[in-house]
Amino acid sequence: MRIGILTSGGDSPGMNAALRAAVRVGAGLGFELVGIRRGFTGLIEGDLIPLDNRAVGGIIERGGTVLYTARSKAFLTPEGQERALATIADEGLDGLIVIGGNGSLKGARFLEEQGVPTVGVPGSIDNDIYGTAMAIGVDTALNTVVDCLNKIRDTALSHERAFVVEVMGRKSGYIALMGGLAGGAEIVLIPEVPVSLGKILGQVDEGLKKGKHHSIIVVAEGFSPKGALKEGKSAGRVVSDFLEESGEIETRLTILGHLQRGGSPSAFDRILASRLGAAAVQQFKDGKTGVMVALSGSKIVTVPLDELDRDGSNIDLEVYRLAYAVAT
Ligand code: F6P
Repeated sequence: MRIGILTSGGDSPGMNAALRAAVRVGAGLGFELVGIRRGFTGLIEGDLIPLDNRAVGGIIERGGTVLYTARSKAFLTPEGQERALATIADEGLDGLIVIGGNGSLKGARFLEEQGVPTVGVPGSIDNDIYGTAMAIGVDTALNTVVDCLNKIRDTALSHERAFVVEVMGRKSGYIALMGGLAGGAEIVLIPEVPVSLGKILGQVDEGLKKGKHHSIIVVAEGFSPKGALKEGKSAGRVVSDFLEESGEIETRLTILGHLQRGGSPSAFDRILASRLGAAAVQQFKDGKTGVMVALSGSKIVTVPLDELDRDGSNIDLEVYRLAYAVAT
């Protein structure tokens, strides 16, 4: 069996570990793995490379993806899809493994529906994929956020300032919530719980009254303040400008941005990715494609690709309340 493997969409730390596991465990099962570069773009353009056990040596500790990645617009068009299917036929691929987030997994579902046996592997720092408790890269991104918050706290304390720290997550508040909890933030703002700017100022004031001299406010990029327009500003900028203009506390904004996507994967991500990569090739052995391999509790399970359009929010409101309870 000849199985193509690609990484697609935003890269996430641990994608290489998943690739390494799929290639090596796949070889043990008698499969030949073929790398497709730049995600669906490479599938359309026929940009394939052979992969053997040595080709994936020394990559477990590397962030990003050695296969490169892309957000392919062409794959959303009928022409692009046709060309992708032609590559699969021309190259004699018997199946495909797609490592990526929601958009990429939608692509995986499309291929499965076209008769290409396909298995998805969840890789996205946003942790917004239905059916998996954790996606590859989330843990590393959280560790980066916590590291940054530790550093920001040093200067926030020294200057007795408020710091608004904007984190990624697209429409999901997972990185903000978990990063904020782990980093000891005073306030966490997520898209799933709209809060007004007035209330945020009230929370900062309350902290000052309780003897706090600084405040760390973690804002998810997808957060929208209740009743306020963002007018082209980022979520963090809106909150930061409001606090600064209130005159209550000197406020600075830090946008962590793509820092959160880089770096050597954590032990957790390497282990998760290795388990998921191995499980992906195992599905071909078992003849059970059309699924995404996923983490449920401590077990690796499968979720049908056609269920992935369900709500993938991993936000637990009890954890949200806890983040505030421990910040008083
Ligand atoms: O989906 C991962 C992610 O990092 C989001 O958190 C973020 O909104 C987006 O990708 C950024 O995408 P790009 O790297 O294409 O600007």
